[in-house]
Parts: sequence; structure tokens; C-alpha cells
Amino acid sequence: MTVSSRTQVGIVGAGPAGLLLSHLLALRGIESIVVENRSRAYCEARQRAGLLEAGTVELLRTVGMGERMDAEGLEHGGIYLQFEGERHHLDFRDLTGGRWVTIYAQTEIVKDLIRARLAAGATIEFEVSDTEVGDLDTERPVLRFTDAGGTRHEVACDAIAGCDGFHGICRDSMPPGLIQVAERGYPYSWLGILASVPPSSDELIYCRHEDGFALHTMRTPQVSRLYLQVPADEDIEDWSDDRIWAELKHRLEVPGWELKDGSISEKAISPMRSFVASPMRYRRLFLAGDAAHIVPPTGAKGLNLALADVTVLAKALTSLLKEGLAGPADAYSDTSLSRVWRATHFSWWMTSMLHVDPHADQFGAQLQLSQLRYVISSRAAATTLAENYTGYFPLTFQA
Ligand code: FAD
Ligand code: DHB
Repeated sequence: MTVSSRTQVGIVGAGPAGLLLSHLLALRGIESIVVENRSRAYCEARQRAGLLEAGTVELLRTVGMGERMDAEGLEHGGIYLQFEGERHHLDFRDLTGGRWVTIYAQTEIVKDLIRARLAAGATIEFEVSDTEVGDLDTERPVLRFTDAGGTRHEVACDAIAGCDGFHGICRDSMPPGLIQVAERGYPYSWLGILASVPPSSDELIYCRHEDGFALHTMRTPQVSRLYLQVPADEDIEDWSDDRIWAELKHRLEVPGWELKDGSISEKAISPMRSFVASPMRYRRLFLAGDAAHIVPPTGAKGLNLALADVTVLAKALTSLLKEGLAGPADAYSDTSLSRVWRATHFSWWMTSMLHVDPHADQFGAQLQLSQLRYVISSRAAATTLAENYTGYFPLTFQA
């Protein structure tokens, strides 16, 4: 038996994009359903991004999601860039006229949003299976899924948002031949750890070492997060905790500064890729976040882009569904893609400048070092980095 129902917006995926979209639509009086194939506990525990642009922080505050972020988030006015054994500080506030970034984990944003949506009486169906989107050539697309109890549902919607991440089903549900893909692979991965040890540094450290990139970041005053460049096909089983700490110390330590180690609560290897699918819309199916684009993590842009997409999308859907105005929905893909391509370039640039390409020769290595020296010695070059890192495109949403 299939249960039929109807809503205004069907949202596939309870990641940050799908959850924030549901929240923003509710602020505009628009009803939605969110379907998610994982459990609530899984979504709330998945370790991913941590760094929010100033505009993302301001958006979350404006829409009433800033309380815990303001209490627990860690504001940073700059970063360290380390190469050739020396550490250099970039002061974002000075370079950009006051802009900053905040460390507040994606998992915490997801927890805050799930709690707020459920408290407001919203429907989030966790642990669904066989999600499908159909009737895409009509003004009444349908969302089909089987709920956790095994009942099949068919929801008639005015619009569907594919917020289902890179491996979701919405992108591939678009008509064949519509989507153009632009992509790059990278010949390395990131090994990321979460460790119960206070951060060893006041700011994040991005380090180019001749044996590979390393990043020191953090989650709380008691918890550190660190990343290491490893070969693309590396097996996490080959990385004991001792080996990870030894390599992190080897790459990150400079005279007079030691990396504190501690017990590792989580470790995983993530591949790196750049991927942009366009257009991000077919009629009343809209893609947002990782469903449409992926950046390598070096520029810390993926989460910020996902939240920016749905901010634009919420406004477009409001115009479409409440005022009957199609203009903003028609512009959604182009509006989002200009931000996406700026972040794609920045993420590619940071990645290429800081990682050791196993195929690079002396020429490639010297170009990287020359670029790094330029960034720390030219105010114009440092400002370019700071402006992109803290968020180049302003985000607005009236609460
Ligand atoms: P997701 O978070 O992937 O959410 C998609 C959801 O859809 C998932 O919950 C998935 O289970 C669900 N789903 C998939 N298929 C279906 C289906 N068929 N039916 C129902 N549900 C489905 N970004 C930053 O901005 N800053 C950083 O510092 C940063 N660091 C990162 C570090 C790592 C190690 C990684 C892996 C990523 C990092 N990112 C960072 C990227 C960031 O985490 C992602 O860009 C972000 O999760 C995208 O959010 P999303 O909601 O679009 O997709
Ligand atoms: C974090 C991740 C990143 O990719 C980055 O560039 C900065 C911070 C983080 O997980 O904190």
C-alpha cells in the first residue's frame, strides 16, 4: 500500500543544506518534508566540516540558529601559513576591514537544526529507503520513499530540493544530457583525526611540508582536529595512532613549538575532488550543496556553499510559491554558480599551493614556494587569500 500526501517543498537529505532550507522555508510560512536515509544519530555524529565564514555565522544568527554557536564557537581573526620550516601569521581582520571566521562543527549545526525543526513540529523522516523523485516535467513533482516502518509514501510537491549530497539520487534524476559536469581529481587524500587534547595553537595552521600538507584545526578548547595529506589510495589500517602523531609532529613542528598529542577518538581518510554540475535546476527540481558541487577541503568552503545555496533557494521558492514570481527561481542556478565557481577556484588554488603533488618536478615545487612567499610578503596577495577565505560573496536573508 502507498500512502499519498502533499506538501509544498519535498527536501531530500537531512544534511546542513536540507535542514537549513526546511528552517528558512518555515520562516516564510512554507511547509516542507525532509527525507533522510540515515538515522538521526548517524547524521548528528558524522564528523565533517568545522569552519564557518563570517557571512554564514551572520546568517545563522539572523535566522535564530546562533545561540549555541555564539556560546561555543571559536572566533578566529586569521590563520598561520607555514612553509620552508617557518610559520607566518595572516591577520584577516586587518586585511579585510574586520572580517573573521568561526570554528563551530557541522555536526553541531546539524544537531541545532534538527532540534529546532522537530520542536517546531516539522516532519523529518529518518532511515527512509528507495527515495525517488518523479513527474519532473510537471508543476507537481512527486517524492517517493519507504519509511523506517516499511510503508511506501508518495508526496505531491510544488517543488523538490535535492540536498542529498554527492552520492544522492536527485542529480541523476535530471533528464539525460541536461547536466554538464566540470571536474578535477587530485592525486592525494586527507587523513583526518579528532583528538581529546587542547589545541596546540591559537589559530589554524596550514602547513606545506616537503613530505606533504598538514592542517591543525580544532573543535573546542579541549578537542583538536588535525589533517594529513596521504596518498590517494591509502588504507586507514596502515595508520596507527602513533604513526599519525609522529607524522603530524614531523610536518607541523617548528623550533620552540610542540604539537601536543592525545587520544584519537576518530580517524578517517577522505578523497579530494573538484566537481561542478550545471545547471543546478530542472523545472521544479533544484539541487543544492554537495548534490551539485564538491570542492577539496583546503579552502573550507563546502559547508559554507551548501548553506549559501539554500539561502538563495529559500528566497527563490518563496517568490515562486507565495507570489507566483518565477524570476528568482529562473536565476537560482546562475546566482549560485557564480559563488560556487569563486569557491571552486579558491579551493583549487589553496590545494595546489599547499599539497605536494607526487608527480611534480622542481619546477612545480618552486612555483608553490614562490606563491607562498608572495602571499606572506605582499599585502595585495594576502588580502586576496583573506577575502576569499572569510567569504567573498555577501549573504542576506531577512528573518
Ligand atoms: P551532506 O552533508 O552530504 O548531506 C546530504 C544528506 O543526504 C546526507 O545526510 C545523506 O545521508 C542524505 N542522502 C543521500 N542520499 C539520500 C537518499 N537517496 N535519500 C535520502 N537521503 C539521502 N566544508 C566547509 O565549509 N568547511 C570545512 O571545514 C570542511 N571540512 C570538511 C572536512 C571533511 C573531512 C569533509 C569530508 C568535508 C568537509 N567540508 C567542509 C565539506 C562539507 O562537510 C560538505 O560540503 C557538507 O556536508 C555539504 O552539506 P550537504 O547538506 O550539501 O550534503
Ligand atoms: C577545517 C577543515 C578544513 O578543510 C579547513 O580548511 C579548515 C578547518 C576543520 O575541520 O576545522
